[in-house]
Amino acid sequence: MDGKYTANDITEIVEADKAHVWHHLYQHKALETADPRIIVEGKGMRVWDQNGKEYLDAVSGAVWTVNVGYGREQIVDAVAAQLMKLNYFAAVAGSVPGAVFAEMLIDKMPGMSRVYYTNSGSEANEKAFKMVRQIAHKKYGGKKHKILYRDRDYHGGTLATMSAGGQIERNLQYGPFAPGFVMVPHCMEYRKDELGLGHLSGREFGVAAANLIEEVILHEGPDTVGALCLEPVTAGGGVITPPEGYWPRVQEICKKYDVLLHIDEVVCGVGRTGDEWFGYQHYGIKPDFVTMAKGVASGYAAIAICVTTEEVFEMFKDDATDPLNYFRDISTFGGCTAGPVAAIENMRIIEEEGLLENCTAMGARMVTNFEAMMNKHGVIGDVRGKGLFIGIELVRDRETKEPVSEAEIGAVVGACGAEGVIIGASNRSVPERNNVLCFAPALIATEADIDEITGAVDTALSKVFAP
Ligand SMILES: Cc1ncc(COP(=O)(O)O)c(C=O)c1O
Repeated sequence: MDGKYTANDITEIVEADKAHVWHHLYQHKALETADPRIIVEGKGMRVWDQNGKEYLDAVSGAVWTVNVGYGREQIVDAVAAQLMKLNYFAAVAGSVPGAVFAEMLIDKMPGMSRVYYTNSGSEANEKAFKMVRQIAHKKYGGKKHKILYRDRDYHGGTLATMSAGGQIERNLQYGPFAPGFVMVPHCMEYRKDELGLGHLSGREFGVAAANLIEEVILHEGPDTVGALCLEPVTAGGGVITPPEGYWPRVQEICKKYDVLLHIDEVVCGVGRTGDEWFGYQHYGIKPDFVTMAKGVASGYAAIAICVTTEEVFEMFKDDATDPLNYFRDISTFGGCTAGPVAAIENMRIIEEEGLLENCTAMGARMVTNFEAMMNKHGVIGDVRGKGLFIGIELVRDRETKEPVSEAEIGAVVGACGAEGVIIGASNRSVPERNNVLCFAPALIATEADIDEITGAVDTALSKVFAP
């Protein structure tokens, strides 16, 4: 810490926070008897709280965002210079950084073509939903309007994205939801019994899990289904990596029934899964829409994007005589220039420092470390992930796969915090399945960082599940 805050300042800040700030995803009763954690500074992989306690951040700003790490002068300087030149003009007009970043991005996304700027992952997803609906009206008299989403996937906190929300517990008490959204089953091999596919494994399982989507399409009527919205790797819903054979079959099904494919890369996008820029690129998927947010600018500025193919774009300009034939949508903060400037520097850093490769190597090390811990900790039921997005599922019994309680998961997170490592966990998301610890350190993580994270988990598991 640079000592900028005196003890008195900090006391006042803590009091102001306790009196007025409503924290996200937080039950505030606890703050009647304790102080909130206030993060005051970050550098590289580390952050410091108001008491000067240092943490190794294994979740990139709690929600998998700060992909290039904290304290990047290169980004900050570029953003500052741009803000002096032009901070804002609505995206009804173009901007210099908006054009430059769009070109850089499309260069990384063969087959995609158009970049629609917006300001949160939820909003980017809603843009895609609105495009699907408008296409349904234009081409199919409004009939082919349904949007399929998957059990355990998450697409945001607004009501329309919650209508496409596969985390049932998270949605409780917020309904009624928007009509025209239909859930398809998850594709998680570890819990394949839930799908009635316990007898299958490997590719056979993957194809069968995808066929469950076809069943839903046939049940709803293919002429009513406009799009399928999926995360390439389910993130908050339990870090679910797709089984072999799943994605090629999903793609076939979409093609067969003329269903547009919307890939939600809000978490996986811009390097998180290693080697490739986007999660979908590992699986040979050809999407119609790709949405992204968190890692696009690593949280240095708010930016989210809905990218489409040229075919989708064409449908919104093919008849200029029709007064409704364009995307009648605007996002005020989609016009901020700080977002694309930060995104340009963020992408440069990833390229210059070889972070896609580092992500793969460090992710593999983390998985190896956790797998090695399975002998010692019977509570680890499954280790899974892609690149530096990794989950470990904790179970009471490896045979029955009975999950540990959410309180025990909370205790592990707390014990890691005491070791100076911030980790994540699924919470109040999927009934009886909030038993997954999540890890998404910045892509700059070193071997020592990875070992420190897995070492803290080792200690925490020993403490919480002591025999
Ligand atoms: C997969 C996914 N999509 C969308 C969102 C929503 O993004 P935002 O919180 O920026 O609205 C999230 C947020 O965690 C997410 O994990």
